[in-house]
Order: sequence, then C-alpha cells, then structure tokens
Amino acid sequence: MRSHGIRVHKKRAESLRRKLMEEDALNRELKVAKDGDFVIIPVKDDVHGYDTVEWDFEENERRLRYQDIAEVPDELRELLPTSFDVIGDVVIIKIPDELLGYRKEIGNALLTSIPSARVVAADMGVKGEYRTRDLEIIAGEGTTETIHTEYGIRLKVDPARAYFSPRLANEHHRIAELVKDGEEVIDMFAGVGPFAVMIAKMRRAHIYAIDLNPAAVDYLEENISLNRVEGVEAINADARFIVRSLKADRVIMNLPQSAIHFFEDAVSSVDDGWIHYYEMIEDEKVEERTEDLKKMGADAGKIVEAENVMKIRNYAPGIGNYVWNLRVKREDY
Ligand SMILES: C[S@@+](CC[C@H](N)C(=O)[O-])C[C@H]1O[C@@H](n2cnc3c(N)ncnc32)[C@H](O)[C@@H]1O
Repeated sequence: MRSHGIRVHKKRAESLRRKLMEEDALNRELKVAKDGDFVIIPVKDDVHGYDTVEWDFEENERRLRYQDIAEVPDELRELLPTSFDVIGDVVIIKIPDELLGYRKEIGNALLTSIPSARVVAADMGVKGEYRTRDLEIIAGEGTTETIHTEYGIRLKVDPARAYFSPRLANEHHRIAELVKDGEEVIDMFAGVGPFAVMIAKMRRAHIYAIDLNPAAVDYLEENISLNRVEGVEAINADARFIVRSLKADRVIMNLPQSAIHFFEDAVSSVDDGWIHYYEMIEDEKVEERTEDLKKMGADAGKIVEAENVMKIRNYAPGIGNYVWNLRVKREDY
C-alpha cells in the first residue's frame, strides 16, 4: 500500500520508531520497510515536523482492537482508554471510574487482543516516595513480576513493588549514548536500573546506582547479573546522604516530582561535568526553572549552563515531563 514514511539509517531506526510511537505518529497498520542500510518507518498522514517519503508498504495483519471486543455497554465504549502500558508480558491500564464495574471484561479483551500478554492489571494510582503502582489484577494468571526488554537489555521488575515506565526507553538510551568510557556516573534515583544497566551495557563506566526502595535495589542487583554487566554499584540509601561524599562526571536525577529538593546535593558532586535533571512542570514555568537551577549552582560555587531543555512527554494539558541537560563547572576551574 502506497503511503508516507520516514527514511532513517537502520542504526537510528529503533529510537525513531519508539519516539513516533510515543507521539502517536506511527502507522501501525503498515510494516516497516527495508532499503539497504536504511529503513522506512510508516507514519500517519497528519505527521508534522519530519521529512517524509512515499513508499509501497506491506500491510500488517490486522489485530483485534480491545475496544471493539470488550463486553461493555455501547454508551460507555467511547470511554475505553486508547493507551495503556505493556511491561514485559504485563498490561497495565488506568480505567475511568464509570468503567470500573467492567474491569474484568476490559482485562479479558486486552488479553485476547495482545497475544504476548499474560496478565492485565488495573492501575489505581502511583503512591508514596517509591513511586510504585497500586495494581489490581483483573485478568490472566500469575503475578505482576515480569521481564521487560528495551534496546536489548532485560529488566526484571514487579511494577507493584518498584517503579518502572516503558515510556522512557528512548531517554535511557539517549543518556547511555552520551556517556564516555571511563566516566564516573551517579544515578541518584536508579529504580530497577534502566539507566545504569543500559550505560554499563554500552560503555566502560563506573556507575553508582542509588535507590531508597529496597525492592528496587534487589531487582537492580538481579538485572546487573541478568545482563552480565560490570561497573554498576547498587546502593540502597537516600541519595541525598550519599551524593555529597562522591565526585562524578555525570549525575542523573530522574525523580520528576521532587528532584528540585536534591539539586543542591547533586551539584556539589560535579566539578566539571553534566547533570540530567528531570521535572514534571507546567510548560510556562520551564524558563523560570532554568534560572532557578543556574542560581542554585552559583550559590554552590558552580557555573550551571542549560545546554538544552527537552520535553520528553506530555503528562497532562499544559504539563510536561522535561529534562534539563546541564553543563556544570566549578567557578574556579
Ligand atoms: C521516577 S522513579 C525513576 C526510576 C528509574 N530512574 C527509571 O527510569 O525507571 C524514582 C525512583 O527514586 C526512588 N527514590 C525516591 N526518593 C529517593 C531518595 N531520597 N533517594 C534515592 N532514591 C529515591 C524511588 O524509589 C524510585 O525508584
């Protein structure tokens, strides 16, 4: 079928495909095409901001949409969420209040429409400082512990016991690509280790991977073995108390709800390097936050420059998850 696609070198194809998926721009009805060292990724017709080419794509076999087969009253069908997370063989969906009485039917429809799914869980919200999800199994068998694969690394996790989001795969990979061999890295809020394990897989670096949640650190240790990587030091502690006694070339601060309270500690550990700072923030407050970070750096005797600030994804209308890629230097360097 003739349609539009984006031509990209095969080395960049996976990250672009994931990005398009996150932007809901991927045309899932068509198969990715090959052209020598390049691939052509099919996109929806209304995609903006990319150079597209026309191509003859093969069609994907049509999958049943769970929305079409879920046994819910027709007047409620349009409330069925169009997005959900797939972590390994576990599907996690937020169900609107009006549909909670039909959660078993929704779970069964998802199991039928996603062949790789083993368990479906309803997400009743993220809770506490460990950022774990309150999950209720609504269909399938077994627990919510699973193994998720991203960019060739395997991550064991139970999202009910430790934080994990499959929507950050590109970001984990982007940061790992920036690391140079020989770097000292601190991953302050490491979770089950997606940044740390990815970096160790791709570079010869030393990574302090810290998390407050003992269950996250247990999984992190398992993930180090599962991927047979070296150089990751798993630490179960409050990052605030560890980071001040360390020096690093790069610090990753992925705690988007409250990282600002840790910035002063993080900046003290970098004399000449980088901080990747994440925050969930209103779009209109981003510039103000850049100034705050520079000021906090200056108060600690550091020059902080925002090399770039990127929105990783939309969180709610007018609110995004942003990353500040900050160059940090001691004033007297
Ligand atoms: C948003 S998650 C990020 C996990 C991981 N970076 C990822 O991308 O999957 C934040 C993590 O920070 C941990 N955390 C919260 N407060 C902390 C603290 N004071 N020190 C260390 N870790 C903390 C939580 O347990 C959670 O695993």
